[in-house]
Amino acid sequence: MRFIGGFFGLELAPESAAGLADFWQMPGDPALCFANARSALAALVASLRPTKVWLPAYLCSSLLAAFDAVGSVEFYPVDESLEPDVELLEAAVRPHALVLAIDYFGQPPHRRFLDFVRSRPDLRFVEDAAQAFDTGIAPWGGWVLRSPRKLVGVADGGFVSPATDIAPDCRACAAPDPHIRQAALARFEDLDGTANDSWHAANQSRESSERVSAMRMSRLSRELLRRAPVAPLAARRRENFDVLATRLAPYRFRPQATLSHVPLGFPIRLRTDERARVRDALHAQGIFPAVHWADLPSPTSFTVAHRLAGELLTLPCDHRYAPSDMERVAQVVGDELKRTP
Ligand SMILES: Cc1ncc(COP(=O)(O)O)c(C=O)c1O
Repeated sequence: MRFIGGFFGLELAPESAAGLADFWQMPGDPALCFANARSALAALVASLRPTKVWLPAYLCSSLLAAFDAVGSVEFYPVDESLEPDVELLEAAVRPHALVLAIDYFGQPPHRRFLDFVRSRPDLRFVEDAAQAFDTGIAPWGGWVLRSPRKLVGVADGGFVSPATDIAPDCRACAAPDPHIRQAALARFEDLDGTANDSWHAANQSRESSERVSAMRMSRLSRELLRRAPVAPLAARRRENFDVLATRLAPYRFRPQATLSHVPLGFPIRLRTDERARVRDALHAQGIFPAVHWADLPSPTSFTVAHRLAGELLTLPCDHRYAPSDMERVAQVVGDELKRTP
């Protein structure tokens, strides 16, 4: 029965022509949209049933839960620029294995890896695009994994595209948890940031309670993604990145002549002690950089990955900010690094 009359529920403006949902090929069926990316990946893995999975040594530990049911999970090395060790993969990966690689900080892997993908139709490749707004190239993986809340203001969600390989009994069948958006709503209402401590704590506790489950992505997040305009958000990220690239060139991780992707943030590489100092200095000014990721799940014998985990820091440069905000961020970083401890 369709109800008519009564009070108004939350109402959103009409969909935008080029929304992020379409751009990221979000599945139209809510049963294929999960509460987070790890759940979508777990559902894909349960449907494909690979016997062997290869993961990069530089990886977010939360993703490991997606592979709990897989008999054999192995790590492969990455180099100083986080590029996959293709030589090792060529020699070690046997037919039918599933290989996951990450578009780190929004950038796709180098040509050598993409050639390897093309040369091995016997393998299944998952492109982890959780950090990628737009890699600047067509999807290279057989399946692309998304976690929209890492890039835009939605509280939940995760999906793979295409999602049609997810078996009927692996789909998202549980209702979303309304508490999932509490921290995001509190931050939204707190225009002057006076309640920062409380929404930050709420978000930390909510993130640490994220699990693999059959919970659906909320309708609100799906509808917001349909309305998020791609071009202006992408342009602002690039513009902000350029300010930091000009001001902080010596510290930039993976410098390249032209930016062909839309960046997650501006990653810098510092000595571990410098990173701690810069982080503290930024926090003192109300600027919150991210560490992707401090606690790698791979063995410490992957020395390059573990060294990078101690040295990288991601400065925010997303669409919430203007170039003048980036000048402020660059100033704090630059001043701290000029200071002798
Ligand atoms: C690259 C990458 N992929 C996947 C995930 C998992 O995303 P979610 O938290 O939505 O499960 C993360 C989490 O931080 C991530 O950083």
